[in-house]
Amino acid sequence: MAASPGAAAEAAGRCGDHPWCDTSLSPERRAQLLLDALTPAERIGLLAGDEAGGVTGQAGTHTGTGLGVPRLDLPPLYLTDGPVGVRQGPGTALPSSLALAASFNRRLARRDGGVVGNEAKLKGNDVVYAPTINLLRTPLWGRAFESLGEDPFLTGQLGVEWIRGAQAQGVIANVKHFAANNQENNRFTIDARVDERTLNELYLPQFEAAVKQGHAGSVMCSYNRLNGPHACENTWLLQQVLRHRWGFRGFVLADYGASKRIGSGLLAGLDFEPYPFFDADGGENYTPAAVEAALAARHTRQALVDRAVGHLLRTLFAYGFFDRAAYADDDSRVDKAGHAEEARRLAEAGTVLLENDGALPLDPARLKSLAVIGADGDVYKNGGGSSDVQPYSLVTPRAGIAARAGAGVDMRYDPGDDPRRAADVARGADAAVVVVADEAGEGADKSCLGLDCGAAAGLRRDELIDSVAAANHRTIVVLETAGPVLTPWRDRVEGIVESWYPGSAGGTAIARVLFGDVDPGGRLPATFPRRAQDLPTAGDPRRYPGVGDVVHYSEGVLVGYRWYDRRGIAPAFPFGHGLSYASFAFRRPRMRPAPRGLGARVSLEIVNTGRRTGVAVPQLYLGLPGARGRVQPPRQLKGFESVTLRPGRRARVHFRLGARAFSYWDVRRHRWQVAPGCYRMLLGRSSRRIVARATIAVRGARCPGAATAIP
Ligand code: BGC
Repeated sequence: MAASPGAAAEAAGRCGDHPWCDTSLSPERRAQLLLDALTPAERIGLLAGDEAGGVTGQAGTHTGTGLGVPRLDLPPLYLTDGPVGVRQGPGTALPSSLALAASFNRRLARRDGGVVGNEAKLKGNDVVYAPTINLLRTPLWGRAFESLGEDPFLTGQLGVEWIRGAQAQGVIANVKHFAANNQENNRFTIDARVDERTLNELYLPQFEAAVKQGHAGSVMCSYNRLNGPHACENTWLLQQVLRHRWGFRGFVLADYGASKRIGSGLLAGLDFEPYPFFDADGGENYTPAAVEAALAARHTRQALVDRAVGHLLRTLFAYGFFDRAAYADDDSRVDKAGHAEEARRLAEAGTVLLENDGALPLDPARLKSLAVIGADGDVYKNGGGSSDVQPYSLVTPRAGIAARAGAGVDMRYDPGDDPRRAADVARGADAAVVVVADEAGEGADKSCLGLDCGAAAGLRRDELIDSVAAANHRTIVVLETAGPVLTPWRDRVEGIVESWYPGSAGGTAIARVLFGDVDPGGRLPATFPRRAQDLPTAGDPRRYPGVGDVVHYSEGVLVGYRWYDRRGIAPAFPFGHGLSYASFAFRRPRMRPAPRGLGARVSLEIVNTGRRTGVAVPQLYLGLPGARGRVQPPRQLKGFESVTLRPGRRARVHFRLGARAFSYWDVRRHRWQVAPGCYRMLLGRSSRRIVARATIAVRGARCPGAATAIP
């Protein structure tokens, strides 16, 4: 347990009076001095954690604890789960990561990381296992809610800000799960076979950004295999890519049970195993006895043990762990009310208005009666597994809507288990709000994409919506889902609001959006398909969920909207889509080459021409030229901003495109490459609602109608 530090330790940090406590030395030097002072056995003892029970998330425990060395004043290390809150007794449940992604808002991503980082610290932790930056390859993924969506640029940009926010609180962010951990089915054994270009363009850039721009102190290697070896013993991944190519200097820890053979793990660069009590696929754990045995059998060398411990210690010195007091586990200091407000604001910013035929916002002056239908609206909805945060406080959708409507409105409620009875309740009300949710969590993928898939409580949700919509023409559906779902009733209802898993204050946020107190700020971070068979992963079990523990990412770079665009498949709601209660004009686009190097500067004026304050999310896409053997998605997200404007106000938003934006991964040279050619630049309200286009001629290419040439 975290000791309560004395006043002296508080002032001087807790390092003591050792040579490595000299803060004028570099983290590398300090780590080396401490390493030299440790006995071989003590070093081995630092390779693994020693807390078996914390995974259940009880107060007073930690998801992981690393042993210290009291003889040398090396304190224990405490680690906890993220990313949507701290799972250690109750905590603030932030909206799901996908809701955060829907905000398209870097500033809010930083605040989100700040809240989680702050609670992690006040619950006595040094490291938080977050953010989850695996790409949403299929919305069937059980952890879809924990991802930042289907685009690597959006995921990377928001992931970087989240890390900055968390680490500014004084905890170390542990980005997870490295890499290509995109499904729960067979997650311990599955071999993700991903070609080099696809890996580099889709599944790795967000980790690269987390390391190079976010300066995440730690990386979690994942359960799955990647092109053969398991991620946690994958030399190519952990050495070549992470350390050599990206220059990562933090430490790598294993997901719970993801450690494999000690020899190959240490060789590849797995530095620490927080949970040596379980092996997921016949692995070995980094327990002292097992490491001693591996050394004796010459499966590994002391030098590799030292290297691993060196990575851990260097990170701890670099991130100030020794030079401050221990964080006490005392969440009485958490600003619970303030964090609930943050959670509400984030939920509002991530809420996506998918459809609005005029029913929304509800007019409180005219509304006399309102039906709220659906037992899902009466409970806390979140994703299961290591992100299952028990909230300090909770407002359900039903409670939030009732509170906002006030005593003057005749509120009717029906749980919806009998669609006909629910229709009777809805009939005659001024409007009906049907709240429906799905079931999703870590450990298993969904087996289907409909709302009724695997549903508990026996609700027939699609039928319920149809039945209520037939009885009340002002029917509004509120979705609380992990990710994209099927919406077969979408043309029969007046409004659809996607609030994902909206966290502690979700009910208040939903009510405020429904009544127009706030503009729904979200845009889709993932495509909603019309039919399950339209999914990029559909139709071939080898592609998904895999056959014989092998899954081929044969859709290649055509993940998410890239697939729908390239194949000409109309989605139900496209990537980037979301409506506002305001109206915006997108005007006067400008583009010029970057002053130095390959790149462009693009800007656009946004004017709020409506009568309400609203959120606009201009998006910039680039279409790269293809070549034989190199399929290119018609467009890829390269810029986005979230701008809040009052009526009549305008703002110019600026996008900077650097060389990377114009690059593809060259598999012959194994590096990023810019092809001469004609690039299509698209500015839009969504990936499918483009308001301005231009052609950019790169490196001397002759392009019809090219307005701008960049050398
Ligand atoms: C999850 C990780 C989590 C860990 C500890 C694993 O099953 O994959 O994301 O951090 O458990 O709870």
